[in-house]
Amino acid sequence: MRADPVVYQVYPRSFQDSDGDGTGDLDGVRARLGHVARLGADAVWLSPIHPSPGADLGYDIADFDDVDVLLGGMAAWERLRAEADRLGLALLLDLVPCHTSIAHPWFRARPDFYFWRDAPANNWRSAFGGSAWVRDGDTGRFFLSSYFPEQADLDWRNPAVVAAMQGVVRRWRERGAAGFRLDALQGLLKDPELRDDPPAACAPVLPTHPEHAALDHVRSQNAPDVGEALAALRTAAGTDAWLVGEVFLPTALLRPYLGPLDAAFALELLHTRVEPAPLRAAIAAAYATGKAAWVLSNHDFARLATRAGRANERVLAMLLLTLPGPVFIYQGDEIGLGEGPGAEEPVDRFGRDAHRHPMQWDASPSGGFTTGEPWLPLVDPPARSVAAQEEDRGSLLWLYRDLIALRPELGPGLAFRDSAPGTLVLERGAHLVVLNLGGAPAPAPAAGELRLPTSPAAALEPGRIAPHSGWIARRSPWV
Ligand code: GLC
Repeated sequence: MRADPVVYQVYPRSFQDSDGDGTGDLDGVRARLGHVARLGADAVWLSPIHPSPGADLGYDIADFDDVDVLLGGMAAWERLRAEADRLGLALLLDLVPCHTSIAHPWFRARPDFYFWRDAPANNWRSAFGGSAWVRDGDTGRFFLSSYFPEQADLDWRNPAVVAAMQGVVRRWRERGAAGFRLDALQGLLKDPELRDDPPAACAPVLPTHPEHAALDHVRSQNAPDVGEALAALRTAAGTDAWLVGEVFLPTALLRPYLGPLDAAFALELLHTRVEPAPLRAAIAAAYATGKAAWVLSNHDFARLATRAGRANERVLAMLLLTLPGPVFIYQGDEIGLGEGPGAEEPVDRFGRDAHRHPMQWDASPSGGFTTGEPWLPLVDPPARSVAAQEEDRGSLLWLYRDLIALRPELGPGLAFRDSAPGTLVLERGAHLVVLNLGGAPAPAPAAGELRLPTSPAAALEPGRIAPHSGWIARRSPWV
């Protein structure tokens, strides 16, 4: 896989349903893979596809070596893989190495794989609130759980756990996975003595549950020797596998994770206020790591169109797709899908349904997603869909395609120029990217040949850029 891929995140249960049960599945993904190829993406990241009781919608895995029957089982994976090969798309799986479902056979058969104690061993908190120690009804003992109580943390200081997970990685490589998105790595290795986390001295940089944010997670997370555990995953995956880490930590703390990885998500950027100065600072810091994977939206947080505001969705698309290095697009962002109402009875107990509504393929009430009752309602298919935007050369979908097509030509490096309030100006090799996030026209550098504007009006006035607009131009020799 190329070093700076465009990766399209598919949340399988919300992408395309092929059998009318209202939940997306892998045959559905296969049927819609042409859309991803037409976008110009290099790879697809599939959120977890393994058998799961669904407490965390796939992130609670009961068998790492199979595919959930709800998603079509292993045969559907084989079919998907063949289609991805045909289209030249790499498939990245979501590897969840830090915990399993309590329904995983290991949970009873291999107590040494987990953290079992007669009583809570420390003050650690779950990311979703409450103590991280869960009382098991069968034994009366406690196990460590950093997320939902149905997810039990694996003890990565046990070599047998490392070996088991290496086996999982090897087998999925044999089954055709080109690499992995590695889940929640900040908690992979814990303090060997399980000492208490001290109280937090300051507010967290990244958003966390208030109870979780009250502690400074220097023992429960972010062990200094985490690189060794990651190296074991790299060994199993092979040098040619592509590995991107989800490390839910500020950029300044990513260094110990980066060696064995190809990239780590720039999550501080995802959570930065959509204003020029904080965006610039977050991008510069992540770029300096040399391993930033750019991301503005995923299945855990408010969707880009809602967070950035409709007015700036094109400007943000241009920013994302002109950054050097790997870029991730969350399904639906390319048509401007916004936050939805969620479900009447919440499906996700942590409140993330609003970010996970089904993909809108056409303007029909079901959005072309399902012939049945969708597991979450559609948001607004008459207002935005792939079919409608396909017909409109000025649509957001076409802007994404144009940006992806232009990316390889932008040239190496990244430098910011100081620019007028409300604007960001990036130099990419021989190209200049000028973005105006503000609601008023702003002064802009003189452009050479215009390569791509966010809309026809973006660069109409020389030396000025229209509100909520952006353009990419070849730098003129004298600027
Ligand atoms: C990651 C996933 C999130 C999940 C958590 C626990 O942060 O993105 O959806 O709940 O890990 O696996």
